Amino acid sequence: MSSGEFSTVILAAGKGTRMKSNIPKVLHHIGGKPMLQHVIDAAIGAGAVKNIVVVGFGRDEVKAAVGNTARVVVQEEQLGTGHAVLQAKPLINENDTVMVLCGDTPLLTAKMLKKFYDAHKKEKAQASVLTAVMPDPKGYGRVIRDFNGYVKKIVEHKDATTAERAVTEVNTGIYCFEAKTLFAALKKVGNNNAQGEYYLPDVLEIIRDQGKKISAAAVKSYEATLGINSRQQLAEAERILHRRKNRQLMADGVTIMDPATTYIDVDVTIGQDTVIYPSTWIQGNSTVGSNCEIGPCSRFTDINIGDKAVVTFTYAHECEIGAEATVGPYVHLRPHTKVADKVHIGNFVEVKNSNIGEKTKLPHLSYIGDSDIGSGVNMGCGTITVNYDGKKKYRTTIENDAFVGCNSNLVAPVKVGEGAYVGAGSTITKDIPAGELAVGRARQTNIPKWRDKRK
Ligand code: UD1
Ligand code: MG
Repeated sequence: MSSGEFSTVILAAGKGTRMKSNIPKVLHHIGGKPMLQHVIDAAIGAGAVKNIVVVGFGRDEVKAAVGNTARVVVQEEQLGTGHAVLQAKPLINENDTVMVLCGDTPLLTAKMLKKFYDAHKKEKAQASVLTAVMPDPKGYGRVIRDFNGYVKKIVEHKDATTAERAVTEVNTGIYCFEAKTLFAALKKVGNNNAQGEYYLPDVLEIIRDQGKKISAAAVKSYEATLGINSRQQLAEAERILHRRKNRQLMADGVTIMDPATTYIDVDVTIGQDTVIYPSTWIQGNSTVGSNCEIGPCSRFTDINIGDKAVVTFTYAHECEIGAEATVGPYVHLRPHTKVADKVHIGNFVEVKNSNIGEKTKLPHLSYIGDSDIGSGVNMGCGTITVNYDGKKKYRTTIENDAFVGCNSNLVAPVKVGEGAYVGAGSTITKDIPAGELAVGRARQTNIPKWRDKRK
């Protein structure tokens, strides 16, 4: 590591008892990804060269979720935050600068971590702690300063005197340490306190008593450091993330008609001059082009939408919608669907695992499953692909410029050739060669004088 680089140790071994969940707390999703991933992403964004996550409860799941974005060390027993940091020691070099973070603070930003790290370096401190002034400091460790305003120690809420509890400056749980100093001090931390735990913040008093420099920087707004301990806090944090995302998008030139009912996950990108109508969710790894009209009352998860598309009253997940396509209202696009440019999909249409070629029209009341449809095809109202025989799924192929009459059933596997026609109301069970007309329905019989005979 050269100077200007740092490693992080991210504490994530606790169960998160107050979540009342079988899922480890740090894996609860917020803004489109696990809360731990927000912390790792902020660390990477701030320039961390190595991230080490301390896992314990649900270690396998946490490890799998982290993937290759961080290294993982196990804390067998949760004996306290100081003990947790100690588990990372084998992966840290003596001369490293270590930033300690918690896995349950998903509102952190790369910018604030970078600023904090730069201040630690500039001050040439051996330890720095990021503090915040909280309107309600209950539960947090209080920052106790001496007469000169220097940090003396941090006292946990449970160990604090009444006078100490009156202090509103709290420990955010974010620190920078010079590694050698940190691990030497950790060896001296005991567990003689209200919780019988090895507290990480206790190293500060030890380092100070060695005459080494401790710096304490206060964040401007405490909001970004909020920790999640309960479902209620999870919901509050998600609201903050969405508000932040909406503001950023609007600053970048996206119109959001009603930010209060627009829920856009943090990693979503949206192009300029796109308009988002109310009651719209855009989730996961999604991209939306420029000059689109999206919503109202729509939900998108892991989708790509091209420029100038109009997608209204739609639920689409794991699929692609091309440029200048018009989709909706009341459309369900299911996974592995590729809608090409300038396609029109209208009222009450469901498409699954299918490719829809350029300028093709599916205007009304269709189910299209496991199909490859070429370009310039017209699918009449009520066309159904019959893709399932109760055991297996089969594909339907419709070549360019075919015309499928209304209310047809295409029984897969089947192919409609290029420019072929299907008579309305047909049930097609055999391939149709290019350019031919297939009519697969009973001939009409008219019975004369029917009414008179009935009398
Ligand atoms: C901690 C700080 C407190 C600070 C607050 C900020 C200590 C002793 N107190 O309190 O000063 O104001 O964070 O949010 O550090 N963890 C482990 N292993 C353990 C114990 C905890 O990995 O043995 C992890 C937890 O999963 C969690 C984080 O460390 O992600 C913090 O632990 P938690 O018990 O929530 O500490 P707080 O009481 O919030
Ligand atoms: Mg906590």
